[in-house]
Amino acid sequence: MNAETANGSYLEVANLVKYFGDDRAVDGISFGVPQGKFLTLLGPSGCGKTTTLMCIAGLHKPDAGDIRIGSNAVASVSRGEFMPPEKRDIGMVFQSYAIWPHMTVSQNVAYPLEIRKLDRSEIDDRVREAIRLVGLEDMAEKGATQLSGGQQQRAALARAIVSHPCLLLFDEPLSNLDLKLRERMRVELKRIQHEVGITSIYVTHDQAEALVMSDDIIVMSKGRIEQTGGPHAIYARPTNRYVSNFIGIANLLEGRVTRAGGDRGEIEVAQGESRLLAPCLLAEGLAEGDAAVLSVRPENIEAVKSKPSGPAVEGEVVQTVFLGNWLDCRVRWGEFEWKVQAHPREGLRTGDKVYVCLDPDHTLAVRP
Ligand SMILES: Nc1ncnc2c1ncn2[C@@H]1O[C@H](COP(=O)(O)OP(=O)(O)O)[C@@H](O)[C@H]1O
Ligand SMILES: [Mg+2]
Repeated sequence: MNAETANGSYLEVANLVKYFGDDRAVDGISFGVPQGKFLTLLGPSGCGKTTTLMCIAGLHKPDAGDIRIGSNAVASVSRGEFMPPEKRDIGMVFQSYAIWPHMTVSQNVAYPLEIRKLDRSEIDDRVREAIRLVGLEDMAEKGATQLSGGQQQRAALARAIVSHPCLLLFDEPLSNLDLKLRERMRVELKRIQHEVGITSIYVTHDQAEALVMSDDIIVMSKGRIEQTGGPHAIYARPTNRYVSNFIGIANLLEGRVTRAGGDRGEIEVAQGESRLLAPCLLAEGLAEGDAAVLSVRPENIEAVKSKPSGPAVEGEVVQTVFLGNWLDCRVRWGEFEWKVQAHPREGLRTGDKVYVCLDPDHTLAVRP
């Protein structure tokens, strides 16, 4: 089951649709994951992430579309094919720890191999290896209830990888942990996935988690895909307002494209009489005259006291919050407040008249 097919994807989902009654939970999505890569489905609660994962696992039957894992068509609605979940060779880790309290860590991890009736010595070797990978050697003979939340998730992961599945599915596995532990586990989990090299699909509503862990991210909303790309591209080059707004912090202003050529152009935005013509990077598909949204991150604009030569608007500092290495500023321009991450050295104070300057390489025009 290790075949990678012509288009390079190990897992391929094509035009997947899943209804619950009249509610279209998954509304025709397509994506692929290359062998060994880590793909994250990112989006707010209810956007269809878990449903997509369940269709891949075989725990839901799709209403339309195809799913292929390696060289196996595991679901094809048009051809009436459906492979039951136990045949799909998939490991899963969920939000709830789902390990058995009456067993030790080793017994928990060994369980999937025991039901397959492997040799004792092979079971022992594999269990030891899985427990080592997740860093639970010292806890192997402890009862599962003696583990902390983070350790329980490690045990659940060991149990998911012990049978060497072809695919790992994660559904918000860190969301029950406190922030500190969550941050540590992100890096750990990614390290383990990289070491075992199993193609993985990870579901989360937490953008930081997605940015830290993924090779690729799919941003979803209402059962559809908004954008697909690597963490850097998703953060630096969102293509529409939804993604700009969902990932990180952005200043978003409605306007119009006034010049377009290749991936560069100019966007006009206005507040009352004040107009800004900002040279920018254009999202794919935007043409001159199109309605668009100016999108720029607080760390990519400056507020300065003397008039700059480049594109800028004049505003008034209405709030400053000192955060050590930067100053979180709000600059009012008409009805709009720019969020600016200023250097404390600028010495900005509430009431100052400043110019908000935009950098053409970090100013985006995105689809509304
Ligand atoms: N078993 C189910 N029965 C009915 N509706 C469901 C079921 N599972 C999910 N839904 C609905 O499908 C939509 C997508 O849900 P889900 O895939 O769980 O979203 P997410 O994992 O992104 O939070 C939601 O509107 C949800 O209420
Ligand atoms: Mg979910």
